[in-house]
Amino acid sequence: MNFELKPLSLHEAATEKCDALLVLVPDSFKPGRDGFTALVGRAIKDGDAQTKAGKILSLYKPALAQASRVVIAGIGDGSAKQVRSGIAAALASVKSDQLKKLVLAFAGPARDASVRAAVSAVADGSYSYTTTKSKPEGRTLHAVLLTASNAPDLQAAFGRAVAVVRGVELAKEWGNRPANHATPSLLAKAAEALAAKHGKISCEVLGPKEVAKLGMGAFLAVAQGSDEPLRFIVLKYNGAAKAAAPTVLVGKGITFDSGGISIKPAAEMDEMKFDMCGAASVLGVFRSLAELKPAINVVGLIPSCENLLNGRAVKPGDVVTSMSGQTIEILNTDAEGRLVLCDALTYAERFKPRAVVDIATLTGACVVALGNVRSGLFSPDADLAKALSAAGEAAQDLCWQMPLDEEYGEGLKTSFADMANVAGRAGGAVSAAKYLQRFTAQYPWAHLDIAGTAWKSGASKGATGRPVGLLVEYLLAQAGA
Ligand code: BES
Ligand code: MN
Ligand code: ZN
Repeated sequence: MNFELKPLSLHEAATEKCDALLVLVPDSFKPGRDGFTALVGRAIKDGDAQTKAGKILSLYKPALAQASRVVIAGIGDGSAKQVRSGIAAALASVKSDQLKKLVLAFAGPARDASVRAAVSAVADGSYSYTTTKSKPEGRTLHAVLLTASNAPDLQAAFGRAVAVVRGVELAKEWGNRPANHATPSLLAKAAEALAAKHGKISCEVLGPKEVAKLGMGAFLAVAQGSDEPLRFIVLKYNGAAKAAAPTVLVGKGITFDSGGISIKPAAEMDEMKFDMCGAASVLGVFRSLAELKPAINVVGLIPSCENLLNGRAVKPGDVVTSMSGQTIEILNTDAEGRLVLCDALTYAERFKPRAVVDIATLTGACVVALGNVRSGLFSPDADLAKALSAAGEAAQDLCWQMPLDEEYGEGLKTSFADMANVAGRAGGAVSAAKYLQRFTAQYPWAHLDIAGTAWKSGASKGATGRPVGLLVEYLLAQAGA
């Protein structure tokens, strides 16, 4: 899908050839004297159109516009939230498989946040997964023109938003693919393809032998119950001098989580194909970086395997030695995410990172705590937590900071190893974070639990591409600092 931004007045925008024209009208709209602008003003004055976000008025072939379908859509105060809901309502009303070219015209000047919201709302509203369908009904929309009177001021925000869409859609694609079409080896191939296509990105893939040599006993324990070989993916984006310390992103890449011997119930187990959405978000961020080319260094680490069960599978009570040397009693094989992540977190030390952020569909408890609105954010580093929260707000990809008091880690004590991989049910998202924290002493660290935000269940089941927006925003803010 091609995005373009032009400095056109509303009247000029109406002369663009397209299948549908969405006129985005804020509360602050002042009708001009130009034909089309006056028409919109008249519709509002008469009360037929409203500027309230979500209110729409549909017109068919109005004389003053080139489009056959015109929708006057309220965007309220013009904030990201209200622009998003205004566009969602307008798009739903023109939903058609014939929509190829769309013009989104801001009636007057727009803000950075509204342009970004507009780009992401159009992308979300027109997304369609096709990879494993025999008769793909893909996205028909291939050209989106945004217009605003102050377009030149909005160019940077627009470019960022389009780059984020590319990353989000790559993350959605890999998230949505079923586990037999998104194995650890296929994920690794996707990472290699990304590196081959984009100059500043390189990729290295380790297999079981190399991972064993590194001493990643926790990661190996999860992988040993599956015939599908594990992959440890190392992506590098080099946009700054070699000596500049990188930010390391670690994405949980469990391509299917059956729970292992501590097997999950059958209902909705299919959704555990999404257990690699952390990994997919790392791929997505690299896709966006390829587009934006900021002057920073970023490393992406993806420990990827299946969590299945066979005659060699790890058993409750087994004790393994992690790469850090710490021993772990695996009391529940379904708490596998933290096992693959802890070895990747130790591996991250070699990069002497300025910060490490792990992204994981880690706990059902986080879904209970925060639902599907905000991701869980955990960090003992106040500055890092603040930067990630702010990035979430700016990108409208929200998170919420959770506690890390020492007491939450007490349940991880065991008589048979340095720690157990689970504590009690209470505060499960926090005890999971406390477990990870034991592997992060060497650098500033944050953990994003995206179990509730990485995908949607029910009728609109599918990956959301979150938190690519948050992460790209955070990285770009670091580039500016
Ligand atoms: N991938 C799951 C977490 C999950 C569950 C995400 C449901 C989204 C929806 C993770 O590997 C897991 O199974 N966690 C367990 C941990 C428990 C055994 C301590 C959980 O949350 O039940
Ligand atoms: Mn699990
Ligand atoms: Zn899992």
